[in-house]
Amino acid sequence: MKKIGVLTSGGDAPGMNAAIRAVVRYGIYHHISIVGIHNGFKGLVEGDYTEMNLSSVADIIHRGGTVLGSARSKEFMEEEGLKKALRNMKYLGIEGLVVIGGDGSFRGSLELEKAGIPTVSIPGTIDNDLAYTKYTLGFFTALSTVLESVEKIRDTSSSHGRTNVIEVMGRNCGDIALYAGLAGGAEMVIIPEIEYNIDEVCDKIMQGRTRGKKHSIIILAEGAADAKEISKEIEEKTGIITRYSVLGYTQRGGTPSAYDRLIGSQMGAMAVKLLSNNQRKRVVGVTETGIFDMDLEEALSIEKTFDKTIYELTKILSI
Ligand code: F6P
Repeated sequence: MKKIGVLTSGGDAPGMNAAIRAVVRYGIYHHISIVGIHNGFKGLVEGDYTEMNLSSVADIIHRGGTVLGSARSKEFMEEEGLKKALRNMKYLGIEGLVVIGGDGSFRGSLELEKAGIPTVSIPGTIDNDLAYTKYTLGFFTALSTVLESVEKIRDTSSSHGRTNVIEVMGRNCGDIALYAGLAGGAEMVIIPEIEYNIDEVCDKIMQGRTRGKKHSIIILAEGAADAKEISKEIEEKTGIITRYSVLGYTQRGGTPSAYDRLIGSQMGAMAVKLLSNNQRKRVVGVTETGIFDMDLEEALSIEKTFDKTIYELTKILSI
């Protein structure tokens, strides 16, 4: 393979730049030209690209976001858009593509595969909602960002003796809330995977107060309930002033953690290696023991589960 394209798609995630850098540098080292596609599949449809060189990726490994830009493209998923993308790839001589993104982006890879383009996909999303991989690129950075906010909010929660509900991202996946709950010492986490019981949440808050706790932190996943409504309900039932904060896009930005830079670099290099070895329709993932690859369709067919032990432990430790 002489020329490979790389794009980032869907919500940006810290660590994407480390992966782009690795694709470019590992490719050039192995005499493969790399084309950077701007703004995800949208750029593929519009023919918006840059021929990358070693300096194109200088000074980016420590930066959040994605230097290639990202988007969610409806046009690409339509027949005409896909045709345009294929024409552009042919014109540019792109023989294979590295796609960095989430579930929706992986489905874009599948469309390209069906049209005969070899792809390797890298899991880049803060949500950690791809079942085949233990962690996704950006998840741990987002988690650290959430924890910084939790600690700040805890100060004011203690000072005023209030309950604070903190809403975090994750779409339909509760992992950010789940892990932040344990690592942040929350009283309770509310996630889409488990139906919550408002009385149980309030009992937990009251139990803490009886024991002399000054603060109560409830971490809420965006896919589980509405922060404003749930806060009102908690305040009415407990009689304790309850405020809510929606952390929003702060979670998507910022300096990538060491872990996200490490796995981003390894995943980027592995993606190029797979394509240059004529492997296709692959995804790259990570377990505790390291980086691995597997079939794209198989990866997409695995159903995401959540770690109930983390949920239970959070409840036990916040006694
Ligand atoms: O997938 C990442 C994510 O930040 C989700 O947690 C969130 O629900 C969604 O993207 C928001 O997407 P957008 O920025 O396109 O509105």
